[in-house]
Amino acid sequence: MKRILFTIILISAALVSMAQVRVTTPNLELVLRAEKGSGLQVQHFGGRLSDTDLENLSAAGVPNHNAYPPYGFWCPSEASLAVTHADGNMSTVLKVEGVSQEEDDGAQITRIRLKDTVYPFYVTVCYRAYQDVDMIETWTEIENLEKKPVVLTRFDSGYLPIRRGDVWVSHLYGTWANEGRVVQERIEPGMMTIKNKDGIRNSHTDHAEVMFSLDGKPQENAGRVIGAALCYSGNYELRIDTRDTDWHQFYAGINPDNSAYTLAPKEIFVTPELALTYSDEGLSGASRNFHRWARNHKLAHGNELRKILLNSWEGVYFDINEPGMDQMMADIASMGGELFVMDDGWFGEKYPRLTDNCALGDWKVDRNKLPNGIGWLVEQADRHGISFGIWIEPEMTNSVSELYEKHPDWVIKAPERDALQGRGGTQLVLDLSNPAVQDYVFGIVDGIMTENPRIDYIKWDANMSLVNHGSQYLPKDRQSHLYIEYHRGFAAVCDRIRAKYPDVTIQACASGGGRANYGVLPWFDEFWVSDNTDALQRIHMQWGTSYFFPAIAMASHISAVPNHTVFRTTSLKYRIDVAMSGRLGMEIQPKNMTDEEKELCRKAIADYKTIRPVVQLGDIYRLVSPYDGHNMASMMYCSQDKSQAVFYWWKTETLYDDHLPRVKMAGLDPSGIYRIHELNRIDNEPLPYEGLAFTGKFLMENGLEIPLKHKVDYHKQNDWSSRVLHLVAE
Ligand code: GLA
Repeated sequence: MKRILFTIILISAALVSMAQVRVTTPNLELVLRAEKGSGLQVQHFGGRLSDTDLENLSAAGVPNHNAYPPYGFWCPSEASLAVTHADGNMSTVLKVEGVSQEEDDGAQITRIRLKDTVYPFYVTVCYRAYQDVDMIETWTEIENLEKKPVVLTRFDSGYLPIRRGDVWVSHLYGTWANEGRVVQERIEPGMMTIKNKDGIRNSHTDHAEVMFSLDGKPQENAGRVIGAALCYSGNYELRIDTRDTDWHQFYAGINPDNSAYTLAPKEIFVTPELALTYSDEGLSGASRNFHRWARNHKLAHGNELRKILLNSWEGVYFDINEPGMDQMMADIASMGGELFVMDDGWFGEKYPRLTDNCALGDWKVDRNKLPNGIGWLVEQADRHGISFGIWIEPEMTNSVSELYEKHPDWVIKAPERDALQGRGGTQLVLDLSNPAVQDYVFGIVDGIMTENPRIDYIKWDANMSLVNHGSQYLPKDRQSHLYIEYHRGFAAVCDRIRAKYPDVTIQACASGGGRANYGVLPWFDEFWVSDNTDALQRIHMQWGTSYFFPAIAMASHISAVPNHTVFRTTSLKYRIDVAMSGRLGMEIQPKNMTDEEKELCRKAIADYKTIRPVVQLGDIYRLVSPYDGHNMASMMYCSQDKSQAVFYWWKTETLYDDHLPRVKMAGLDPSGIYRIHELNRIDNEPLPYEGLAFTGKFLMENGLEIPLKHKVDYHKQNDWSSRVLHLVAE
């Protein structure tokens, strides 16, 4: 990688009395005041400033807040950092020592080194400002040059003051099978905390990403929005403190709960990145910034189209066998799919994995189910002209497993106590703080890939939380490092896997959507949004998830009805139309489908291939929210050059004499002329505007009427209605 050092500015008191540091992307600017010997202060975060504005910025009114407030400087305030120094002093006072700016691989890196006024204790506040996308990442490097260890009891990644007014926060919450629900609330005085303490996965419940709408109630396509995403795979804490000042104070970082960290002399503690963006085009504008940044920088293979797959889980669960797998491969191939993924249930010798209560860790094929091994399956996939993928859960074991019999010391458990066990009554988490366990986990992937180099896809699952606190590897006085060391170990393993297997596609699954976070995505190509594949609930979950994550990363599968989680029966057309708004796949037993259903899927897969670049690489415009009570939802993707778009419309409730809004489109070229073609059509008659053309201006000002019902034969009528329109500019 070419590194060009273009500026190094070392600020000395003699040089300037007040130094403004500009951290900029094409449309985004963070301004700091970094005067040597003074505290580092934030002056502006938002759109780009002109030289004139910059010159007069202070007079206009700036927060003048410490950019990384340590505890002990002004104790009643919340802090980003709390340190007990080697001599027991619990206060820290940080002053600017120097600033450097350099270019690194297309990004501007700013590093501001702060030093405690008394102790040889340093914090470098770092910013990476991308030059191709509007995102600034901030993190800190905390360095102990004291003679003895210090203890960190808080270690945020970043801090941002947000001017009060009518500021609303949008964030995600949920649980297993209900991930990514949107909640939007006005920020009122008091402390709001968004946190996770799962230990292993971190996005089933709250999410480590938020958006702040600065101009009142959040709007999708208007208003100023600040977006923030903590890029971490473990426990986090985001705090919004609103007190007797004009500013909301936003703090984000690793959750310090039960995680006091002893920092040895000369050790540097690097916090995860907090990514910050800003848009004046509403929530969807901030989402587009997140998505572009993800595809270009934070998602494995972020700009490569994903294959259309069939996953075996909801189709056969643990009932894996050779003829069954071969049949599923033949079926997905015949529908135009490109990949088959064999899920849980294929392994276990001494303890065959017939259900979820054994064998994790024993990654040897169950020869009773698959006498010819994985190699045979890969060959069959090849014969069908598709690729092959496999499920593993490498961080876990069961107390009923050969691995546990051999290495009981590898599991996480409290000293002197029996471990609480998870799924199946026997599941346990392996201790990734232990380098021997890291080698073992790397070896699982390495072994499978060495034996079967043509495996194209790995579904990496993680179905347990850290419910026991205790490492059998870490020393007694470092037990509070477990949460952090686990994720360092996880990162080290992922680095090794990616160094050796850069091309394999890896899905992050964690009992569904437990690992939708930018801590893991640099190593993973996508995540499983939820174990709940019900199309109606998926509209809500995928809507929320799309705030921060691009469609290319959101695995979205067509499944059977009644749905296996909510037992709702939706039409196949509706399930297809929802799944086609993400990374399309299937999670069904094709053997149980009628020829007509297979034909509908075959056509949908063919159509998806034509729109795949627009969906997976395009810009999102959310139009009508399923949360707004309009009994419908609508969104669209536009290709970056605006030459194509895909418009989705889903009815979410059916009431007689209902009057749904006419949806105005967005993101089109106003002067472009777009021809309309309906995909996945089931109606006996085409839509009145099928094959006709309209200007982008007309479509964005007026939209098109969408009939509430499908015109199908009487016996085929049901209460589900949805449309997918493909718009192509002439
Ligand atoms: C988890 C995943 C599912 C499936 C099962 C297999 O629940 O979320 O998709 O892989 O494990 O046991």
